[in-house]
Amino acid sequence: MTQDLRTFRPDFVFGAATAAFQIEGAHHTDGRTDSIWDTFCRVPGAVLDGHDGAVACDHYHRYREDVALMAELGLDSYRFSTSWARIQPDGGPVNPRGLDFYSRLVDELLERDIKPWLTLYHWDLPQALEDRGGWTNRDTAYLFRDYALNVQQALGDRVQVWTTLNEPWCAAFLGYTAGVHAPGRQDKLAGLAAAHHLLLGHGLAVQALREQNEDLTLGLTLNFTVAKPLDANAPGDLEGVRRIDGQMNRFFLDPILRGRYPDDVLADVAGLGFEEYVHDGDLEIISTPIDVLGVNYYHGEAVSDQPPAQLADAQAETGRKTASPFPAAEGFHSHLQGLPRTGMGWEIQPDGLRELLVRLHSEYAAAMDLDLYVTENGAAFDDEVAADGVVHDASRTAFLKAHLNAVLDAIDDGVPVRGYFYWSLMDNFEWAWGYHKRFGIVAVDYATQRRTIKESGSEYARIIAARRLGH
Ligand code: NOJ
Repeated sequence: MTQDLRTFRPDFVFGAATAAFQIEGAHHTDGRTDSIWDTFCRVPGAVLDGHDGAVACDHYHRYREDVALMAELGLDSYRFSTSWARIQPDGGPVNPRGLDFYSRLVDELLERDIKPWLTLYHWDLPQALEDRGGWTNRDTAYLFRDYALNVQQALGDRVQVWTTLNEPWCAAFLGYTAGVHAPGRQDKLAGLAAAHHLLLGHGLAVQALREQNEDLTLGLTLNFTVAKPLDANAPGDLEGVRRIDGQMNRFFLDPILRGRYPDDVLADVAGLGFEEYVHDGDLEIISTPIDVLGVNYYHGEAVSDQPPAQLADAQAETGRKTASPFPAAEGFHSHLQGLPRTGMGWEIQPDGLRELLVRLHSEYAAAMDLDLYVTENGAAFDDEVAADGVVHDASRTAFLKAHLNAVLDAIDDGVPVRGYFYWSLMDNFEWAWGYHKRFGIVAVDYATQRRTIKESGSEYARIIAARRLGH
């Protein structure tokens, strides 16, 4: 590769991402009420060591300092989410004090020349709506549209990019089927119903926002996997790849971008009652054209119909069940491939990002006017603050560079990737893992709320300033 080819275009967007519940804290301040994650954190054993989001990174009170850090890093854009329960406590009328926080945040960003990239839903449904069935209730999709409009009315004059949902697969299947995320339900059909209603809410919100202003940039973010057979000659492993790819990737991509659920996945879930949730006209709404597809990529997987020999060890090492929570992927397992792993136990596979982007472009985006952005990619490691006060996180720096390199490879392959957001700007509440997993390029000392840019952050700042990998 020549040095030239390792250069990013001047308009390539470099950013970092966070989410409301993971950083804001101030959970009962200025009128905010409980979201499903506040409730879930109170369930004994649900979150490691009983951690919760009451204070988190106290970003609600320290947003100015945090935006100053973003400016120091040289970020072009900042991806954050708004909290529905802050803006509409209990899912009810708009709370101006809640909305005003985001208005101040957006102003601060713009003042520093950082483009706000707003996500409307990053998993924190108002608890009062969950009490009425949450995402299994079709009404929630319509209430989500109303919430989107409320936010748009307040911030639409200053925010250009609006994404509806973050990772609906996780919200639906980790939340309503596996029960390892809020609201902690364990019901196969509930997960499927939630997925459909999330998608319906997405489509309704896109239509409504577009009606307000046809110039907004609209889209959503999905989480993807790159599934390979553990043994390419084993029919069971190949079937596993079809199922894992079907439920995690195509079950979301196809309704949004092609207006239909994939036939094979529908056949996989036949008999569970999913079809009853899909009303006439829903798929037209869900497939309302969007401008951007946000790609979240962390790792791929080697799939087999055989469980790993040491099932308990594999689960302990990766911190998650090897089998998918999707109803029709039971009986198929992810295996470790002996690659280096992050602090989450996730194997480091930068090539998977290139492969994923190439596939998304050739199978979907190229045929339509759809921009691809990597909206999340990052790694947790067991960081230590050294005696010199610095976090020498060489592993994270290597991870970041390897994945940026993969983005450049995809660009060389002809994929017009428009930007990359590192997850996360700062250490934060990592869901069921609480504060134990640190993904940030900025370290947070939770006892003092002191922020320190890690070495990886300084390296990212250098890359952004030079728009080039390497020195
Ligand atoms: C995906 C989610 O969007 C984010 O909230 C989470 O912290 C990261 N992945 C890391 O697990």
